[in-house]
Amino acid sequence: MKYALLSSLDALNSHDSLVVGVCGKSVVPDNLPPAITQAVTAAVKRGDISGKPGSTLTIPLEDAEGPGRIIAVGCGTDAKKFTLNVRDQAIAAATNAATTLGNKRMVVALSALNIDADASDALRRAVAAVAKAAYRFTECKSTKPEVRALKSVAFLSADGFAPAEARAALLHGQALANGISLACDLGNRPGNRCTPTDLANVAEDMAASHKGLKCKVLGEAEMADLGMGALLSVSRGSREEARLIVLEWNGGKKSQKPLALVGKGLTFDAGGISLKPAAKMEEMKFDMMGGGTVLGTMRALAEMELPLNVIAVVAASENLPDGAANKPGDIVTSLSGQTIEVINTDAEGRLILCDALTWVQNEYKPHTIVDLATLTGACVVALGDKACGLFANDQSLADELLSAGEVAGDRAWQLPLWEEYQKQLDSPVADMQNIGGPGGGSITAASFLHRFTRDSRWAHLDIAGVAWTDKKLASGRPVSLLVKWLLNQVA
Ligand code: BES
Ligand code: MN
Ligand code: ZN
Repeated sequence: MKYALLSSLDALNSHDSLVVGVCGKSVVPDNLPPAITQAVTAAVKRGDISGKPGSTLTIPLEDAEGPGRIIAVGCGTDAKKFTLNVRDQAIAAATNAATTLGNKRMVVALSALNIDADASDALRRAVAAVAKAAYRFTECKSTKPEVRALKSVAFLSADGFAPAEARAALLHGQALANGISLACDLGNRPGNRCTPTDLANVAEDMAASHKGLKCKVLGEAEMADLGMGALLSVSRGSREEARLIVLEWNGGKKSQKPLALVGKGLTFDAGGISLKPAAKMEEMKFDMMGGGTVLGTMRALAEMELPLNVIAVVAASENLPDGAANKPGDIVTSLSGQTIEVINTDAEGRLILCDALTWVQNEYKPHTIVDLATLTGACVVALGDKACGLFANDQSLADELLSAGEVAGDRAWQLPLWEEYQKQLDSPVADMQNIGGPGGGSITAASFLHRFTRDSRWAHLDIAGVAWTDKKLASGRPVSLLVKWLLNQVA
């Protein structure tokens, strides 16, 4: 897909469709060619289209000077109450309509509605909204459905959008879209086509195709030499070897301490000996989406060529029951030296993450660490699919991530990391146990990770509720949040 910016609505006849907004009874923008405004106004009067967000109406046009058709989209009842969330929804609906029609070239004229937002943020979001709506996962279909894909989308530029800034925002939007699409591809691949080794190969391919990205992969023997007893205890029950996947982007000054992104890359979570129920177990192919988000973000970062130093670490493993698997009550020794009683083998994410977190601190002394994991079902109960759970041992970092998520339309919500929760993790026989009992499941999981990140500026995002949708497809979240956070680190 190609994205472009238009400074005026001239040359509309080279496009298949023009997307305009309906806010209550009015048509936006208000500077459209009169024939177009009249056609949409008439449709509104007839009641064929309203401001209902996400609704669309296609209006064919005969005029050779214009686009082939108008796609009118509902943008709420009042142009003054318009938000980027509504606009993203409208853009997604228009993309679906244009794709169904088999259109190749679409112009989106909704920029006049960017009431309160920064033009660059708005443009990146618009590109991501198109990319998400246009995304299809057909890798595993033996007959590919007919390709009716859009080829190019142009956005009418907001007034006063400086050309250099606009170019950068467009490039960043494209990079973000590519990062989201990589994350989605990885998530949608089933466990047998996305093993820890497959994930490592993807990272190696990324390094081969992006100058400036370096990849390093640790196998089980190296991890055993280092003493990653917690991580390796999870993969012991699997025939697939675990991998610790590392990508380095050194775009910043040598003296600048790196930021670290650490992802849970559990390519299939059956629960281990504490076996999960069969219902919906297939969704546990998405248990690598912490890692998928990290790889998608690194792709975006490399394409944006940001002047930052960023280390990505993906802890990749399966969690399966087997004669060699972790047993409830087993005690393992983590890389940090702390011992862990494995009460429930299904609380495996924290076991692989704790060693990855210790390793990245030992190896790189990062300035800040953000980890991402589909860590707890309890987070889905708490926040549903609207926000990821955010925990941090530094409020300034929490605030940075909350605001990046707000601006990117990819929100997080903070939960407490109070010391009072720590005693739920005490074990009678080891330094700690891997579950914290029935109450506050997401918080005790985060508190467990906190025992391994005391000396760093660290945040944890529990993405269990947001990483995939009820249609059983990956969402690409929260790549947008992380990309916005990284952009803010440059500024
Ligand atoms: N990957 C799961 C968490 C999960 C469950 C994410 C459902 C999304 C949807 C994680 O490894 C897990 O199994 N967590 C357990 C922890 C419990 C045993 C303390 C859970 O949430 O049930
Ligand atoms: Mn589990
Ligand atoms: Zn898991």
